[in-house]
Amino acid sequence: MTRHEQIQNAYRVTGGASGFYDGMMTYSTFAGKAICRAVWNMDKQKNAEYLERALSGIPKNFGGRLLEVPVGTGVLTLPVYKDLKEAEITCLDYSEQMMNAAKQRAERLEIGNVCFRQGDVGALPFEDEQFDIVLSLNGFHAFPDKEAAYRETFRVLKKGGTFCGCFYIKGCCKRTDWFIRHLYQPRGFFTAPYETEDSLRERLSGMYREAEVSHVEGIGCFQCVK
Ligand SMILES: C[S@@+](CC[C@H](N)C(=O)[O-])C[C@H]1O[C@@H](n2cnc3c(N)ncnc32)[C@H](O)[C@@H]1O
Repeated sequence: MTRHEQIQNAYRVTGGASGFYDGMMTYSTFAGKAICRAVWNMDKQKNAEYLERALSGIPKNFGGRLLEVPVGTGVLTLPVYKDLKEAEITCLDYSEQMMNAAKQRAERLEIGNVCFRQGDVGALPFEDEQFDIVLSLNGFHAFPDKEAAYRETFRVLKKGGTFCGCFYIKGCCKRTDWFIRHLYQPRGFFTAPYETEDSLRERLSGMYREAEVSHVEGIGCFQCVK
């Protein structure tokens, strides 16, 4: 099995049990809260803080073209898109199962300006410089070919556009590092190598005109301008 297939399989199961996954991502169920605290050392406030930072690159009333990759079940972003009625939003994920949950959520929320594409972040099916914003939440720690993912997200972003989001970085929270190594990575949810806060800052500063990097526990948040 290739690394891509391993990841797709891992998230196929997760997509099928999207209630559990969503509860964890939104700190809203008993099991979800327990995992956030035990694995990520995060309470509700820290959880909200990292998300706020990751999404802060999207202006209120944004009306341009936005690409989200990977969308997963859309639990964190579709409620935000509901208020961006003028925007043209494309959501992409490798896992059909995760994205099916997102499509159903978009229908329930009656969001008409979002389209979904199955695909690989390492070979995005778009022309160069198509998007005003590329958003990536909790994806780079899962992507099997991270160099290709950095290259592709940069390529499809317009000059002056914003690349923002978040993902796991090592070296900021010992207990998270332990869980990733012993639990998440063997099951195919996460794929090494991982960035540290410094390596991420150095990488993004080298690629983008402006790059801001910060962290909340083991989650690195970034906002860059091309
Ligand atoms: C932890 S989930 C994050 C989803 C969502 N952004 C969130 O924060 O809830 C990681 C997602 O990355 C997707 N993924 C993994 N490898 C990918 C690839 N090469 N191209 C696109 N998506 C990929 C998985 O299918 C999964 O839905």
